[in-house]
Amino acid sequence: MTALTRSINIRTEIPGPRSRAIVARREAAVPNGLYKAHQIAVDHASGALVTDVDGNTFIDFIGGIGVLNAGHCPPEVVAAIQAQAARLLHFSALVGTYESYVELCERLNVAVPISGPCKTILSNSGAEGVENAIKFARAATGRQAIIAFEGGYHGRTLMTLSLTSKTSFKKTFGPFAPEIYRAPFPAAYRMGLSEAEAVVRCWEAFERMLVAGVGAEAIAAVIIEPVQGEGGFIPVPAEFMRRLRAFCTSNGSLLIADEVQCGFGRTGTLFASEQLGVEPDILVSAKSIAAGLPLAATTGRAELLDRAHVGGIGGTYGGNPLACVAAIEVLKWMQQPGVLERANQVGSVIRERAFGWQREMPRLGDVRGLGAMIALELVRDPASREPTPDDVLAVVKYCAEHGVLTMRAGLYANCLRLLMPLTISDDQLQEGLDVLEDALRAVIG
Ligand SMILES: Cc1ncc(COP(=O)(O)O)c(C=O)c1O
Repeated sequence: MTALTRSINIRTEIPGPRSRAIVARREAAVPNGLYKAHQIAVDHASGALVTDVDGNTFIDFIGGIGVLNAGHCPPEVVAAIQAQAARLLHFSALVGTYESYVELCERLNVAVPISGPCKTILSNSGAEGVENAIKFARAATGRQAIIAFEGGYHGRTLMTLSLTSKTSFKKTFGPFAPEIYRAPFPAAYRMGLSEAEAVVRCWEAFERMLVAGVGAEAIAAVIIEPVQGEGGFIPVPAEFMRRLRAFCTSNGSLLIADEVQCGFGRTGTLFASEQLGVEPDILVSAKSIAAGLPLAATTGRAELLDRAHVGGIGGTYGGNPLACVAAIEVLKWMQQPGVLERANQVGSVIRERAFGWQREMPRLGDVRGLGAMIALELVRDPASREPTPDDVLAVVKYCAEHGVLTMRAGLYANCLRLLMPLTISDDQLQEGLDVLEDALRAVIG
């Protein structure tokens, strides 16, 4: 398929000389532990296009790891930030009140799929948002234990890394926070089961955990990503979510939806939980909430959130005025007719092409996700489903050299995740997918 208008413009080898020089300085100045998927140094970006310091223009299929659903530098957001920057950069919600903080919380309180009165507290990162959710759950229930899932990712602070499953993120950093129990996640493809079978198997394990791991009476909360992000874009089967909801309700535990990656329009609804038909008690959003400014929101049932003691929650910067005005603009844009539908359109285009590739290239083991949150899982062969993480790295490299930025994911790092801005044009989407198709043919074809 040939795109009508070409956006990619690669003028140097990748990385180009200027990028290489800046990356060399980074390596001298920044600890090695900070991973970088790409060797380029970026200069500027707009919509779904990124231009590096060597003048190469790429189509962005990773969107700052799911932060740029509204695209790079959306003009309304930039204008709001510029106007705000001239009036007030910082005050701190611990010192007093500014209206943008309150307005954003009011908007989120009615936007989340939680019935009844809600409240929201703002912080700076997804990890902080999750930390707050855990604090609220413990304060509200008077219990300590938290159930998290295999393949789950919740951040890199001590509590959130403790909740996170993937051992390669955790090695050498323990000991981890206590009272966290991990249950199997119904990852049907990896388990080699149908979704229904995976739910039954994982529910048996959940019930066994209540006998062999942690007593139900100790459980403050169950935290789950409605679509696992870092774990490889695996939607929670609705039936599993319903069982978790029923367990939490009858057990007096809270259900926390971590929508840091899958929220804010990525999946075709404002929040992925809406599609599962299950209401969480607390919902954490971040990433695409503020088009790139650091912001997270922990929103939940007012009577629960109000049980944390005065002075117990907060931080110097949380809900910075620039981030708040940016988020208000993002939310207004996302609630316009047709915007969320765009995620489904983007997702359908990707699926249609990816299912075609899968028919020709059996090593493209699985194509899955929700809305425009889609991952491709690469394996040695369809029967063994042995993960091939090196193939994903080769695809990422090929794509970058040919003008498309992508990134890996998955418990076994063998998934390619697609998180392009929802503002991507049809031509840009097709052009980027053309490159991805060539990359797959070169690596697993
Ligand atoms: C589901 C989920 N929760 C929490 C986090 C942590 O967010 P942050 O990196 O902003 O701390 C992430 C980040 O990728 C995430 O995907």
